[in-house]
Parts: sequence; C-alpha cells; structure tokens
Amino acid sequence: MTAQLIDGKAFAATVRASVAEHVARLKSDHGITPGLAVVLVGEDPASQVYVRSKGKQTLEVGMKSVEHKLDAETSEADLLRLIDQLNNDDSIHGILVQLPLPKHLNEDLVINAIHPSKDVDGFHISNVGLLGTGQKSMVPCTPLGCLMMLRDYHGSLSGMDAVVIGRSNIVGKPMAQLLLNDSCTVTIAHSRTRDLADVVRRADIVVAAVGRPQMVPGDWIKPGATVIDVGINRIDKPEGGTRLVGDVDFESCAAVAGAITPVPGGVGPMTIACLLANTVTACCRANGLEEPQGLTA
Ligand code: GUN
Repeated sequence: MTAQLIDGKAFAATVRASVAEHVARLKSDHGITPGLAVVLVGEDPASQVYVRSKGKQTLEVGMKSVEHKLDAETSEADLLRLIDQLNNDDSIHGILVQLPLPKHLNEDLVINAIHPSKDVDGFHISNVGLLGTGQKSMVPCTPLGCLMMLRDYHGSLSGMDAVVIGRSNIVGKPMAQLLLNDSCTVTIAHSRTRDLADVVRRADIVVAAVGRPQMVPGDWIKPGATVIDVGINRIDKPEGGTRLVGDVDFESCAAVAGAITPVPGGVGPMTIACLLANTVTACCRANGLEEPQGLTA
C-alpha cells in the first residue's frame, strides 16, 4: 500500500470533542442544552443500529436525546403530527427522520414537513436550495464529513478535478454541490455513465457512493488521487462469515492512490459526528448565538 490512510475514526473523535466543548459552553454560559430528536418508523435492522448509535453519541457529547420509535403501520397523518410537535418544541433543535421509510409513507412530504432550521439532515428542499446557491444552510451529514476530511488533508480544494460516483439526494448530489462550492471541477457519474473508468481516471478526488461492493478497481485511479469511500457493504468471506467492504476495492486502490479512507473507520464515523455538529449549529442559530467554527461547510 502506498496511499496515506485518512483516519475517519480519529477525525470523528476530534469533531465530537469540539461539539462537546460547544455544548458545555452553551450550558454554562447560556443555560441551553442542544436537543436532537430521532424518529424511526418500523423495524429495519440497519436503521435500528444507526438510531441506537446516534442516541448514544448524542448523550455522550452532553446533548439531550429523544427517540421516537413508531410501528411500521404508522399513518402519514400521525407521523406529520409528531413532526409538527417537534417543530414547536423549543427544547429540540434538530429533527432526524431515519430513512428509508416504509413504502406507504411519502418521504418527500415527511422530510419537507420538518422545519428547515431543525433539518439536521439537510434534506429539506429549502436547505437543498440554499446549499445549491451557496447560502448558509444545514448540510447533509455524510457529504459534510467527506468535505471535512478532504479539506483537512488537502487544505484548499480549488481547481481540483473531482468525480462523485452516485447521484443520490443523501450523498452524491450534495457532495457534488459542496465540492463545486469549494471550486472543484465536478463530474457526477452514475449507472448510465459511459466509459466510467476513463471518467474516474481524470479525477484528483474520487468520492464513491454507489452502494456496490468493491466496484471501483485500482486501475481506474489516477496515481496520487484521493479516494473517499462512502460505501458500507457486507459481503461473504470465502472462508465463511462476513466482512464490511466499501464501494472501492481497497487493496488495489490503496496501491495507486495518494490517500484513501478505509471501510470501516473512514466516512462512517464522520456521519454521526457531523449530525452532532449540525445539531449544535442549529441550536446556536435558533438562539441567535455565534455558531461554532469548523463544524459547518
Ligand atoms: N439513512 C441512511 N443515511 C441516512 C441519513 O444520513 N439520514 C437519515 N435520516 N436517514 C438515513
């Protein structure tokens, strides 16, 4: 391996420490405790794991954590009523509705019912529009975590060629927008992209967010490029059991890249750290206080 490892686990710990410091100051100087509400509908096992982890880490940085676990048959009206209640609760500064939602619920409708100032996922159309026009917004957590790691490693990203593989609303599109706002030349590649290998070979920065295990081989990577792997895929091991892999083939990519995030321990831990960061930012904005430096885009 020649690439430098970008240690997301260690970076996330520094983000959480900074969040905890700001939370302590909000409490001691202003008597305010930032609060995050997480709403889970149904029993998707992966979602249950994420929600538990979010609740635990929220408490660890000194914030208030509220979990609403609703059964899979919850009606849209009941879910919207809960969101309305949380929108009007002054002790709650961030609201996250875990996705995916059960099929009978309209995700767009539900997400857009969250007040934009409490939309710590940055999925509300107002926040998407603000980000797209370079205005102050809530920024989606996973792309924000990727951006923080890229800025930390490179300093300025200005003028770099970036290829984002994947066009989801959660990662691909906001990631491309953030890189564009940092003056990268950005290409969004996806399942219909022609000559994907050639497109990726041009990139100084590759962000892989497609959800296909080990899809990007090392011979697609420009020597010295930075590879950010958003994928978390569980695959069977030949000898039995399973293991987690990303969307890039780590071994071959690490042999060519200048820097690379591992899976696990790369982007994953940064996502929840950025959720906590967004909650503190939302809390400061809601109270007319100066927002923390370095925790937003
Ligand atoms: N499901 C997978 N990733 C996310 C995320 O970042 N936010 C929410 N709300 N749901 C998700």
